Amino acid sequence: MKTEIIKVDAQQPDEALLQHAGEIIKDGGLAAFPTETVYGLGGDALNPESSKKIYAAKGRPSDNPLIVHIADYEALYPIVKKIPPAAEKLAEKCWPGPLTMIFEKTELVPDETSGGLPTVAVRMPSHPVAAALIRLSGGYIAAPSANLSGRPSPTTAAHVIEDLSGRVEMIIDGGPVDIGLESTIVDFTEEVPVILRPGYINLRMLQEILGEVKLDPGLTAEGEQEGVRPKAPGMRYRHYAPKAPLTIVEGPDRAVIDRINELTEEAAAKGLKAGVIATAEHAGSYHAASVHTIGSRRDEDTIARNLFAILRDFDSEKMDILFSESLDTPRMGMAVMNRLLKAAGHQVMKVGDNDLNGGKL
Ligand code: TXA
Ligand code: MG
Repeated sequence: MKTEIIKVDAQQPDEALLQHAGEIIKDGGLAAFPTETVYGLGGDALNPESSKKIYAAKGRPSDNPLIVHIADYEALYPIVKKIPPAAEKLAEKCWPGPLTMIFEKTELVPDETSGGLPTVAVRMPSHPVAAALIRLSGGYIAAPSANLSGRPSPTTAAHVIEDLSGRVEMIIDGGPVDIGLESTIVDFTEEVPVILRPGYINLRMLQEILGEVKLDPGLTAEGEQEGVRPKAPGMRYRHYAPKAPLTIVEGPDRAVIDRINELTEEAAAKGLKAGVIATAEHAGSYHAASVHTIGSRRDEDTIARNLFAILRDFDSEKMDILFSESLDTPRMGMAVMNRLLKAAGHQVMKVGDNDLNGGKL
């Protein structure tokens, strides 16, 4: 399949250009498009054939449900059985924006879209291109992140082209995304709202709006140890993993820098190419062959925005072994660490104060 690539202005997209993309989706085809979180791979959410095509294009297991994207709040009524008052309140504060909510679905949502679940995930993105395209496509776009299954989510059109060129009818290039991590997912089908995937809208913000909020036990380290599976099917899969093994090194700054330098020197001595993900404060202290600066510790938004691109860069550089500082910052830390831990397959090395001479733990 020949993939058509069109460029649009992110803030003021030309409707005539998007009209063609809307027609493609209405006709059962696929178009990738920018949102404020990551690029999405869009198809008609109410057409089971479109959802099947999305799974095929991504190489994604078909029991992993898709998020239905809407552009207007009223579009929620026909696709969900009931809207709990807490969900309505959250929508008022956070939609349009980087928030997905889970509801009981109506018959209108095909099982192919919901991965066979009786529930549906719904998001109203704020990106002008996404909002215009949803309206031009009939109001309901099913869109997973526009990456091949298992790869980091795309934050630029180039990432989408790398993964999906030849597999979809159209890719809309609206420039780099703003947030860089996928939306926060909150489940409203239980008594107390539950966070299934952390994102830009964090636990504290949700607690301020909703009062009591739970964290899916499958997301925490304790849950993992006890073998609790995350409720969102997509959070169970191996994800974002770079081709080279990645280890997160955690501890006081000096100890982390010294240990990473030791490890990358050992790797270099064996003829391996080692890479490091470093914050701007420490990047100059590393000796590894490839050091990627993810952003300043004082600028969490930049750290979140750069993570997926750096994971992809290391793949194209064909590195053999990777290390990262911990990126557990105050506001976005839970979301960033959730993705970084998945990318590392939960490989974490803790170094301590008394470890300055590189003594083994
Ligand atoms: O920011 C985002 O949410 C992006 C953009 C494109 O909107 N989309 C996205 O979609 O990240 P995807 O398919 O890559 O991730 C959706 C996640 C998966 O982990 C999936 O299992 C979960 O949402 N999910 C979808 N429907 C669900 C449901 N009914 N119950 C539980 N989890 C659900
Ligand atoms: Mg995804």
